[in-house]
Formats: sequence, C-alpha cells, structure tokens
Amino acid sequence: MVDRLATKCGPLELANPVLAASGTFGYGDSFERFWPLETLGGFVTKTLFLAPRDGNPAPRIAETSAGMLNSIGLANVGWEAFVREKAPRVNALRGSARMLVNIAGNSPEEFGEIAARVEADREAVGCDAIEVNVSCPNVKEGGTNIGCHPGQFRDAVARVRAATTLPMFVKLSPNVADVVPFARAAAEEGAEGVSLINTLYGMQIDTELRRPVLGTGSGGLSGPAILPVGVHWVYKVRAALPELPIFGIGGISTWQAALQYLMAGADAVQVGTASFVDPNACREVLAGLDRWCAMRNTSIGEIVGAAHRVGERAEEPVWTG
Ligand code: FUM
Repeated sequence: MVDRLATKCGPLELANPVLAASGTFGYGDSFERFWPLETLGGFVTKTLFLAPRDGNPAPRIAETSAGMLNSIGLANVGWEAFVREKAPRVNALRGSARMLVNIAGNSPEEFGEIAARVEADREAVGCDAIEVNVSCPNVKEGGTNIGCHPGQFRDAVARVRAATTLPMFVKLSPNVADVVPFARAAAEEGAEGVSLINTLYGMQIDTELRRPVLGTGSGGLSGPAILPVGVHWVYKVRAALPELPIFGIGGISTWQAALQYLMAGADAVQVGTASFVDPNACREVLAGLDRWCAMRNTSIGEIVGAAHRVGERAEEPVWTG
C-alpha cells in the first residue's frame, strides 16, 4: 500500500512532507508540551555557529499587517552547548523525524570550520543533514553578504562540501534579482538540495517615535505576505533545475499554502512564522494535507511539481468565474 504522506527530499526519506523551519522551532525541543516531535517529517535547528552569540539589540520582532519582521541576529547557544545540552533530549523525542542542523559562520572559512565540527560530532548528534544558512538578512558578516554575492556564496558552499559528507541543503535568499543562478551554483558546488526562501528585507517605522521599530532598523519579513514570492521562486527553480531537491519555505500557515509549494515543485515544506501564531500550525498543515490527499485518493509523491504538468491532466480545471 502506498503511504500517501511519505516522501523524499534528495537522499532524505521523510515520513511526511512537513518540517519545522529554522529559527522558529528552537533546537527541536521548544514545542514538546504542545505535541509529539515525532509527528513531523523533520525539523531544522536554529542556526548554529561554533561560538554562542547574543544576537542583535532589541526590539528584534515587529508584527506587520501580513507577517512579521525579525532582526534576531542569529542568536544561538553555540555548537558545543547544542551537542551537550540539546541534541540528547531532542533525539529521545524525535522518532523518525529528520533533524537538519542549520549552520553559519562570519566568513566562508568559518562555514567550513563549523561544517567540520558537525562532521566530527555527527554520530553523537545524530543529525540527518545540514542546512547552510547563507541568507540571514540581519548580520553584518555571513548572511546575505555571502548569500547574495556569487563568489562568496560558492566559496562558502564549497567549504562546507569539502568538510562533510552529510547531505547538504543550502538556504537561499530572495533578496537577489534571480534566485535560480544561486540554486544552480549550490548544485554545482555539491549541494544535495536547496531550501527557499529565507526572509525579505523589510522595515517598519514607529510614527510616534519617528524611527524604525527594530533595533537594527531593517529586518527580515516572513509570514503570509511572502507566500507568493516563495511559490514563485520554487516554481522557477524547479523549472530550471528539475532534478534538484527543494524544501519550500515562506508564508506557509495553512495546508493550502503547503499544497501550493508542493505543486510548484517543492519536495517538502518548512513551516516557520505560523508556529508563533499557533503552536499547532505544523500539525494542522500536515492534517490538512493528509485529508486532501485522502479525499482525492492521491499522494504527496503524485502532487509534487503538479503545476508544471498541467497539460498532462485528464481533466482540466473548470473555470466558473
Ligand atoms: O536574525 C536571524 O537570526 C534570522 C535568521 C535568518 O533569517 O536566517
């Protein structure tokens, strides 16, 4: 019998296509009191550096009309504390849920260094893959100044590849004219797949104080406002690079949004900001996908990339409006 939810993203076999996105799910243990971690296809840790980081000055979060701005600044506990204090607990909870460790550094060299540490500790940590964050908009070093710069981008990805044989997914920035060349470069430098998109640059002004709300001025916009942007880039990357595995991210707060990403060509999706609004968001998205597939007697495998195969459908959509 076909398991309608089971899917693959490159070499990663997933019990279902719903993962929790980096930066919205702690290190995998934050939602323990709401629902079992093993429910998920997987989760991605907050970005980890070799050394701990405090991140940016407050305020670091602002609500917008259709989403959220953040300027966290990659605050994290550092690799050693993650290995010692977080990974054992998460491994006890996660069942078949895949663990992707999201990593970053201040320079391409530092990307290589943390990847080497992950490789050295991979048995102890039990992680299934690496997600390389070259797309954070909130840091002066690392982040978009690497991820939006073709030379630095290739250098960072190549250094991670040289340091580890773990499956590598590169998280791409939408803050470029065209995401496709970056996806292609990631594949050429040995990535198994890409995650897209990270947040878009944004700013909110406090009109009483006459200054930006965020402590850093600008931040990264996420949430429903960016859904069409993410779907657009997933569609474009799938069309240009049909064999490249994709995690679709950006503005997924409903199962219908997840379905859009899957049909645009994502092999699986990551739910992010929605978990701040409703801690059950990941579970609800998964339940909705399951119901939808059951009602249509179909499977995730069958719908991935469906929007690229419209002409193949036996029945075309009926337009009534
Ligand atoms: O500021 C932050 O920690 C955000 C990270 C990201 O968007 O990758």
